[in-house]
Amino acid sequence: MYKNKVLVTGGLGFIGSHTVVALQQEGIEVVIIDNLSNSSIDVLGGIAQITGKTPEFENIDLREKEAVRKFFEKYPDIQDVIHFAASKAVGESVEKPLLYYENNISSLVYLLKELQKRKDSRIIFSSSCTVYGQADELPITEDAPVKKAESPYGNTKQIGEEIISDTCRINKQFKASSLRYFNPIGAHPSAQIGELPIGTPQNLVPFITQTAIGKRKELSVFGDDYPTPDGTAIRDYIHVMDLAEAHVKALKRLIDHKEKDNYEVFNLGTGKGNSVLEVIQTFEKATGVKLPYKITDRREGDITAAYADTTKANKELGWKASRSLEDALKSAWKWQKEVQKREEND
Ligand code: WQD
Repeated sequence: MYKNKVLVTGGLGFIGSHTVVALQQEGIEVVIIDNLSNSSIDVLGGIAQITGKTPEFENIDLREKEAVRKFFEKYPDIQDVIHFAASKAVGESVEKPLLYYENNISSLVYLLKELQKRKDSRIIFSSSCTVYGQADELPITEDAPVKKAESPYGNTKQIGEEIISDTCRINKQFKASSLRYFNPIGAHPSAQIGELPIGTPQNLVPFITQTAIGKRKELSVFGDDYPTPDGTAIRDYIHVMDLAEAHVKALKRLIDHKEKDNYEVFNLGTGKGNSVLEVIQTFEKATGVKLPYKITDRREGDITAAYADTTKANKELGWKASRSLEDALKSAWKWQKEVQKREEND
């Protein structure tokens, strides 16, 4: 049993909170840092409802260098960080690039500087398949070229990976993994935690569930003139619990010194691509809810298709996504109904 506490930054966010649950269920003690800019303190209670254990929580903004230093002074034994905390809205990043570069890059640098002061420290970095842009070959392997980012958000993921790999190059005692997520969707089956988009959802699945519950009039399908079987864009939708479990595996790989190199990259997807229309059809079948939608123009910056080659994660992490698109959509719908109930009770 691993005795040290693990720091999860952004641990009250969508993927962060599900990863905290998976860590606690593996008997790993967690300390969460979150500045609540894109999450709610209620998520802490949701985690405790599921695992019976409330993680330690520190309301810190990682852009505050002194606050980061003080945190590590308070927790001298922490040597592992799973780093989710970042701004993540592609469209917003185009409007506010400096907010993204300051938040996503400075925070990472301050974290890394503290970790360099500790022996055998490790970081798991939340990256994204967005670094590949439109890959030339599908499915996408980790060797696929990283392309010029389409957005400042995507650029901060590419730069983040480079900062970490440069740090690993000059400090062989420091170990890191960049996990490139495809499209995380769904919620914990208990519906105690899930995705909490603020304002109008940018991503497909929360927009679908908000439309299905009547919060949105209809879904706009961004283009049906892509070179795909049904004309709509294809993505690799991975259940957030599969993604959470992959983080535990990635952390254990480093703790157990199983890594092949002190810097590694893994694609985390299901290996299967689904089009927007297929997601709609699967949602309707899984929930019995008819989804109103219309076809509109393509969204600026969207790619035609992306789905992962999961061979490396399957083999090296001993991890494989086990939940289906239907499972994920059912859990997302159950969560949306829970959110509605809570809003009605407030
Ligand atoms: C999926 C598909 C849209 C909304 C982005 C980031 C990625 C990660 C996940 C943060 C696309 C279509 C969407 C809608 C639609 N972000 N769509 N109508 O763009 O693949 O990935 O979010 O970690 O880094 O790049 O995800 O859910 O926005 O879109 O038709 O209202 O659904 O065109 O084909 P995307 P998405």
